[in-house]
Formats: sequence, C-alpha cells, structure tokens
Amino acid sequence: MQLTINGMSHTLEVDPRTTLLDVLRDHLALTGSKKGCDHGQCGACTILVNGRRINSCLTLAVMHEGDEIVTIEGLGVPENLHPMQESFLHHDGYQCGYCTPGQIMSAVGMLGEARDNWPSNVTADLEGRTDLTDAEISERMSGNLCRCSAYPNIVDAIRTVKD
Ligand code: FES
Repeated sequence: MQLTINGMSHTLEVDPRTTLLDVLRDHLALTGSKKGCDHGQCGACTILVNGRRINSCLTLAVMHEGDEIVTIEGLGVPENLHPMQESFLHHDGYQCGYCTPGQIMSAVGMLGEARDNWPSNVTADLEGRTDLTDAEISERMSGNLCRCSAYPNIVDAIRTVKD
C-alpha cells in the first residue's frame, strides 16, 4: 500500500488487517501517536486524516491510500512548534505527557470542525477558537482522556492559542 504521511509518501507491505496506528508506530517508527486502550476509548492515538481527527487504532491502514495523514510529528518540530504545541507548553497542558500528542492533534482538528469546513492546512484551523466557550471545548475534547487530570490547563491552552 501507499500512504501519504506528513507530506511524505511511503510504500509499505503489511498485513491488510493492520491498523493505521500500528503502521505508524511499528512500521514507520512514528511513535508520537500513543496506544493507550487500542479500542477507541482514550484518544491517545488521535491523528488527522484529510483534516479530520480520527482514532488511528480504530481504522485499517489499507483504507487510507490517497488520504492526507498528519501525525504529531508533522505538526511542528522543536525549533518551530505549531501554535497549539506552544500553547500547551505555555499553559502546562500536560503532566505525564502520554495523552499530549493525541490531545494536541484533537485540539487542532476540533477547531477546524468548529468552523464547520475542511481546513486547507492545520495552521489555518486555529481561526475558529474564539467562538468556543470552555464548556464547548471540554465537550468537543471529551474523546481525549487525561489520567493526570490536566483538563483545566488543556482547555486554557486551546482557548488562548495564538493569543
Ligand atoms: Fe486509540 Fe485509545 S489507543 S483510542
């Protein structure tokens, strides 16, 4: 199969039953996406597919040929963080950090959904942020669990991104 991930094309030979999360982690060493529950309950594996957030543990990789896949590794780099990554850092929107990649990918995708259109790129997704209340952000982020309970800081990070 051929997958486009973070703007790069990858040709892979894997069992067609392999999940997208396992391809990312085990075949491409993109281990930023975490495996928390492996059955769609924690959100640690959240990535963007065509600008929409999905749980990569719930979908087969073979279903995503031709899609534009973005993982946390494609969002920013240490020298040039994405604004959402900067905001999580600024607000201490994490504790142990295990859920953080999924939280950030979900936050970026969520703001695109809040604008109710498909983003042309992940940076542009941030424009919808000021329309959301804290309660709406919490509701829209409810698919991403944080066992350390850093939720207030996560909401602050999302609400004030790019401020
Ligand atoms: Fe995919 Fe938990 S690992 S939702």
